[in-house]
Amino acid sequence: MELIILTGATSGIGFECAMQMARIAPNEQIILACRNQKSGDKVIQNIKQKTGHKNLICMPLNLGSLQSVREFTVQFSKQPNNKIIALINNAGIQNVAETQYTKDGFEVTIGVNHLASTYLTLLLLPFMDSNASITFTASGTHDPKQKTGMEPPIFKSAKELVYPTETNEKPMTVGQRRYTTSKLCNVLTTYELQRKLSKTNIRVNAFDPGFVPGTGLARNYPPFLRFISDHILPVLRYFVHNVNTAQVSGKRLANLAYADQYKNFKGKYFEGEKEIKSSADSYNKEYQDILWTSTIDLLGIKQNETSVQLV
Ligand SMILES: NC(=O)c1ccc[n+]([C@@H]2O[C@H](COP(=O)([O-])OP(=O)(O)OC[C@H]3O[C@@H](n4cnc5c(N)ncnc54)[C@H](OP(=O)(O)O)[C@@H]3O)[C@@H](O)[C@H]2O)c1
Repeated sequence: MELIILTGATSGIGFECAMQMARIAPNEQIILACRNQKSGDKVIQNIKQKTGHKNLICMPLNLGSLQSVREFTVQFSKQPNNKIIALINNAGIQNVAETQYTKDGFEVTIGVNHLASTYLTLLLLPFMDSNASITFTASGTHDPKQKTGMEPPIFKSAKELVYPTETNEKPMTVGQRRYTTSKLCNVLTTYELQRKLSKTNIRVNAFDPGFVPGTGLARNYPPFLRFISDHILPVLRYFVHNVNTAQVSGKRLANLAYADQYKNFKGKYFEGEKEIKSSADSYNKEYQDILWTSTIDLLGIKQNETSVQLV
């Protein structure tokens, strides 16, 4: 028996991914890394009832705190079974209100979506099976060519991103840009990490679930926009390319991370089930390198804490 770790399973795409994973991996242990134990336990009850999976557990993880990421990995390392076959970094937020900060003082969208997810991945690498998969839930919004209607990303080093300077722009504009930039960071990290793991059989891929209205992602949008997102936009999936239900996207995410048909894909970007090209910026090696180096620096991670060459 090996195990699967999934973040962000308490709602939306992650919840549906966990449900699918329980179906396609009935003999693996599935760990839901959740910041709210009660929500995690409720999800587990629900999945157990619907799938009959017997080996799901919830372990506390708040990606808004690097200390919590460290505590998660320490607790995880004490498990009798700790060989990871799949890690899915799915948890994410989009803060379009006033700037908020993580416990470490990092801007929250970059802090959670990029920094803490990368930290978790690096600390868990020593526990990975030689054929493990690592999957980052990215987003098509990282690519201006996709014309998603979101503010395009602007690449900067991790340090500049987590310590942003004051601006007179509207919080919505700034918040959307931070979000799309955090998703660009997910894709840049996917490529850089895969290159650093090129001598191994571990595969690192990025996943775009498409536009999935009605999940919790729009939770701090103004009520009127939230209403549209929850009740009107879901209809778009019948007419518009790459608009999906959480169920469809969650299933695809679980399949990409675990199903046999994806076992030969390494360092790729998927729009749903299809491998496609990501944005031009995401292939920029200088950006990949700057992001990696500045991220390692911010995290303060030591070489003996991970199994990938940090520098
Ligand atoms: N919905 C879309 O249209 C769309 C499109 C492209 C990409 N995505 C990506 O898909 C992923 C899932 O989003 P979703 O749409 O399913 O949104 P969601 O329903 O809001 O789910 C987000 C999940 O992340 C968890 N999370 C947030 N902050 C966390 C933290 N500090 N520590 C631990 N867990 C945390 C949430 O837990 P709580 O329940 O505790 O809040 C929740 O389980 C995200 O990475 C998002 O960027 C979504």
